Amino acid sequence: MGREKVPGDFIEYGIALGGSAIYIASELDGNRHFHGYDVFGMIPSPTEQDDEKSKARYETIRSGRSTGIGGDTYYRYQGNLFDKVSASFTGFGVPVDGERIVLHKGLFEDTVDLDPKTRIALAHLDCDWHDPVKFCLERTFEVLSPGGVMILDDYNDYGGCRTATDEFLAGRADCRLTRILPHAVIRRL
Ligand SMILES: C[S@@+](CC[C@H](N)C(=O)[O-])C[C@H]1O[C@@H](n2cnc3c(N)ncnc32)[C@H](O)[C@@H]1O
Repeated sequence: MGREKVPGDFIEYGIALGGSAIYIASELDGNRHFHGYDVFGMIPSPTEQDDEKSKARYETIRSGRSTGIGGDTYYRYQGNLFDKVSASFTGFGVPVDGERIVLHKGLFEDTVDLDPKTRIALAHLDCDWHDPVKFCLERTFEVLSPGGVMILDDYNDYGGCRTATDEFLAGRADCRLTRILPHAVIRRL
């Protein structure tokens, strides 16, 4: 993305066990910071804006029937998720120091408070359902640098994410959907 020319921090909405977040944090350069947001507990439910696939997936999770990687206990059913994910960051050489790398625990609606002077170069939205995607798109775009990008991880997976993204883009002249596969990417002009 020619990132050396785009000022700003990196952000992820939807950390889960930290897979993509740790990779993004490991790519920090210069004075950039990484901010990661997640409830680090039970995922909020989809709404009427979401498709049947999303609702079925949520029901599997909610009912305790989801299984983890390699047969492990699914991560949402484990305790101390925040501490475990923080330990993984440390293990991969990108410790959560509260300054350069910061994790915010709670619902996005309660924790996302981006200073108007903040600039974001890259945001990875990996939060599945319509309402959080809509919320994060709108909040992030306010402080997205020109040339900065927002990646929609679930655009091709969950209908609510696609609807929220398409609605966000409708009629806008200040950004472009620059790709759809493997994930959708919106770039600010
Ligand atoms: C698909 S997972 C993220 C996967 C992760 N990026 C990875 O690489 O494995 C989605 C995450 O978003 C979180 N999430 C969804 N809606 C949220 C909300 N409104 N507030 C906070 N976290 C939310 C869920 O709890 C879940 O951990």
